[in-house]
Amino acid sequence: MRTRPLKVALLGCGVVGSEVARIMTAHADDLAQRIGAPVELAGVAVRRPDRVREGIDPSLVTTDAAALAAREDVDAVVEVIGGIEPARTLITSAFEHGASVVTANKALLAEDGAALHEAAEKYGADLFYEAAVAAAIPLVRPLRESLAGDTVNRVLGIVNGTTNFILDRMDSTGAGYSEALDEATALGYAEADPTADVEGFDAAAKAAILAGIAFHTRVRLDDVHREGLTEVTAADIASAKRMGCTVKLLAICERAVDGRSVTARVHPAMIPLGHPLASVREAYNAVFVEAEAAGRLMFYGPGAGGSPTASAVLGDLVAACRNKLNGAKGPGESAYTQLPVSPMGEVVTRYHISLDVADIPGVLAQVAAVFAEHGVSIDTVRQKGKDGGHDGAWLVVVTHHAPDAALGATVEALRQLDTVRGVASIMRVEGE
Ligand code: HSE
Repeated sequence: MRTRPLKVALLGCGVVGSEVARIMTAHADDLAQRIGAPVELAGVAVRRPDRVREGIDPSLVTTDAAALAAREDVDAVVEVIGGIEPARTLITSAFEHGASVVTANKALLAEDGAALHEAAEKYGADLFYEAAVAAAIPLVRPLRESLAGDTVNRVLGIVNGTTNFILDRMDSTGAGYSEALDEATALGYAEADPTADVEGFDAAAKAAILAGIAFHTRVRLDDVHREGLTEVTAADIASAKRMGCTVKLLAICERAVDGRSVTARVHPAMIPLGHPLASVREAYNAVFVEAEAAGRLMFYGPGAGGSPTASAVLGDLVAACRNKLNGAKGPGESAYTQLPVSPMGEVVTRYHISLDVADIPGVLAQVAAVFAEHGVSIDTVRQKGKDGGHDGAWLVVVTHHAPDAALGATVEALRQLDTVRGVASIMRVEGE
């Protein structure tokens, strides 16, 4: 084993960074054996240097992240600051100065992954980011390496723990969205500003990354259709239950049947209780991958948190350090297919629509005619009188597969009918 250590610059020392540093120290001997050389921290860049950081040599702490990332003696830079800047500049500088980079930064990868990959390629460095998608769950490496010989057609999953916790609570307790969000905040699952999670930005960034790797193309955050879960009501969850379903915030990336385009979307959807994703509770993540030769694979585990994210960072760090030691480079970006990303309107899906209607002759025929006019085929219809039949009726329609644009137009037309007093719930149905 080589005795001269490989040097690692740690940019950020929050929940994830401090855990990375702790594991590097606690398991230094094992990591050295696995890499073939000792690995040590060259410096730790932080915003608040006065804060006590247990287990970290204070002489390593600096506020000058730019100088640390640019040090010529650094072999690998671990970026766990997050956000677009200064992370992008620091990572680019690390490549320019000969380091490989391990990052957990999904937002940056989804916005500017192509430029980062190009910089890594130009300087012969590794850019690894297992921690950016679903923390500890191995997804990036299986898609990029284990399935590199297969054709992936679909990636479907729960990739945000906070929203899964909220929906799980709504499902198990009957709570509304705000109440469930308050509980998630109190338990530390949701941040003080939960926007990134509840509006689906976090999941959309992960969908962009997964779609790009799975389909060997480039998908950016802006390409991902995004709907959060703030509009999901207790009535939606109850409606899903009556159908034998539950509601999940899903990230869905698909290759078109003709293989000429892809789609990527994040939105709440009903899935049957028998689907394996329905049993993913609390803040866990799970992702289904459908590949031509492999069939259906499922990846499950903790998708957030300091330790699980640090586990993924350490795995990448070991790989990057091994490559450094061997003068090698791991796989880079594989975006050769350059497939266009189709808009949401072209996605073929199913809708569950719950209507508050007048209970008079001809209503069902009127409603059915609107579906027919838009070329949307009805799968099931269920009607139940409200208040014993004295206050109109609930009409619940589940469609067959149809383009999302046709389904959306159908709902708009239904709203215009005098006999439709309200559209109580609209949700896509997936996983069948
Ligand atoms: N906030 C994310 C989640 C974890 O709840 O899954 C980081 O992506």
